[in-house]
Amino acid sequence: MAAGVFCMCGIVGIVGSNAVAERLVDALKRLEYRGYDSAGVATIHNGAMDRRRAEGKLFNLEKRLDAEPLPGNTGIAHTRWATHGVPNVTNAHPHFVDGVAVVHNGIIENFSELRDELTAEGAVFTTQTDTEVVAHLMAKYLREGVEPRAAMLRMLNRVSGAYALVVMLKSDPGTLMAARSGPPLAIGYGRGEMFLGSDAIALSPFTNEIAYLVDGDWAIVTRDGAEILDYAGNPVERPRQISQTTAYVVDKGNHRHFMEKEIYEQPEVISHALSHYVDFASNTVGDNAAAIDFKSVSGLAISACGTAYLAGLVGKYWFERYARLPVEIDVASEFRYREMPLSPSQAALFISQSGETADTLASLRYCKDNGLKIGAVVNVKESTIARESDAIFPIMAGPEIGVASTKAFTCQLAVLASLALGAGKARGTITPEQEKQMVRHLAEMPRIMSRVLNLIEPQMESLSRELSKCRDVLYLGRGTSFPLAMEGALKLKEISYIHAEGYAAGELKHGPIALIDENMPVIVIAPYDRFFEKTVSNMQEVAARGGRIIFITDEAGAAASKLPTMATIVLPNVDEIIAPMIFSLPIQLLAYHTAVFMGTDVDQPRNLAKSVTVE
Ligand code: AGP
Repeated sequence: MAAGVFCMCGIVGIVGSNAVAERLVDALKRLEYRGYDSAGVATIHNGAMDRRRAEGKLFNLEKRLDAEPLPGNTGIAHTRWATHGVPNVTNAHPHFVDGVAVVHNGIIENFSELRDELTAEGAVFTTQTDTEVVAHLMAKYLREGVEPRAAMLRMLNRVSGAYALVVMLKSDPGTLMAARSGPPLAIGYGRGEMFLGSDAIALSPFTNEIAYLVDGDWAIVTRDGAEILDYAGNPVERPRQISQTTAYVVDKGNHRHFMEKEIYEQPEVISHALSHYVDFASNTVGDNAAAIDFKSVSGLAISACGTAYLAGLVGKYWFERYARLPVEIDVASEFRYREMPLSPSQAALFISQSGETADTLASLRYCKDNGLKIGAVVNVKESTIARESDAIFPIMAGPEIGVASTKAFTCQLAVLASLALGAGKARGTITPEQEKQMVRHLAEMPRIMSRVLNLIEPQMESLSRELSKCRDVLYLGRGTSFPLAMEGALKLKEISYIHAEGYAAGELKHGPIALIDENMPVIVIAPYDRFFEKTVSNMQEVAARGGRIIFITDEAGAAASKLPTMATIVLPNVDEIIAPMIFSLPIQLLAYHTAVFMGTDVDQPRNLAKSVTVE
């Protein structure tokens, strides 16, 4: 079986009334967060179909187009994040076969048998990609005299897997055909022109009138509109909605990187998130936090990936503590296969910035099949995870472009805190006075975040010079600071490529203490809370073995501990309900500045993508 070159990508198409190549590249820039190993554009002009493709960042494709412009009013484009195989020009989309051009996001799972079958019939494959079988199948049916629509439907009934596809035929320059089975695909309605894209963000410069295809839909798109059908060929209706995604400007303002910009946006976007769930006037949790009736549920399942999972892990502590709800949580790639016994009396929360993460979506579907009430804590309200949920809890963070999640993480925490307090209110496990007090602390967060960011920035930058020389770093925390320790480690490793681990501080003596020496800094996250004294004894264990400590604490903690440290970062004393959001700031800035010293690609780290829509 040939090793497939699969990809997780962004795709765009325009049936335009004027030149499309530059607009296609502009749309790709809004999809670049999905993947950036290679990119390409193809258009049809005066009966000829041509393409430009380039390895690496979109900038390289723009240079190619500057050198060799691509005329034409109909075109398709693609930006790729390779999951398998070398990301080179040969494997870059669009793929051409005999007047057929295809761009694809996802995986054609039966590509190998189709490739063998087509090769036996004389097809000559020129790439390692799974996508090429789609182009060959279409070319074969068209050669056999099958008309385009029937050829498309026959091809769709041959391929299997998860895919979003756009097909362009040299013989039919006024039409694009598209299909969705898994990864998202949206139709954009313009004036005398039509658009296709992986999401509403890609299409936001052209239109905000969007219809999402659902799994098993395919569409024939011309300048005058779109005809949407199912795989049996029956017309289906998909609602047009006005996308909330404004045509945001893809720029960094006066910041060097999107990640830095997004770190500093947190006070503003946190206030947007909070105002959606709490009422600052009465200091109470509002109805938007009650979209799931937590009073009637027997328990909660939470599942997500990466940073979103770590937000969920903080949420677990809150739901258990304030709402007395038992919480079962796991990373989605494990959750979906554990076949854990679930009951319809439970609810499930899925946390996802993009709302497109394949593993998280699979876990959602497992819970849905088991009859649970499904809630989505997402940054994209039109995303697949949102659309398959019973209740949507938007985090209002605005588009997050940096691959390393920052503002989405703290907004996820703010929303989860609101939901946990709302659940406690509904279940009578917190008093109205406790509710008022904690909502008041939440309301103070934006102001405190602004103050902390300005307070610690210089110290973080200088400390990062030290950190950038290290090969290994250990993060420790207890309670809600334990998930923060893991998040700090994830931030550091994913953008600076320094190995880092986050550990429960109490676990240090059960093994990791063997690692302690003067070469591996130990970053201890410890607000002056009920775990503080125990964490200080863990710090003593580290110091006694020559370990160097970076102590992240608050004023009360700094006063209480006289242990020698490599550095002590002192934050304001804050209530424990907002400590995780405030203590996220130093770990984000530490990772950011270390990566800047390392000279890595902070916004688009190697091997990563912003949204992993493949398993
Ligand atoms: C976080 O910095 C990473 N980019 C990654 O772990 C991310 O959180 C994970 O892939 C989940 O993405 P989602 O929130 O879009 O589902």
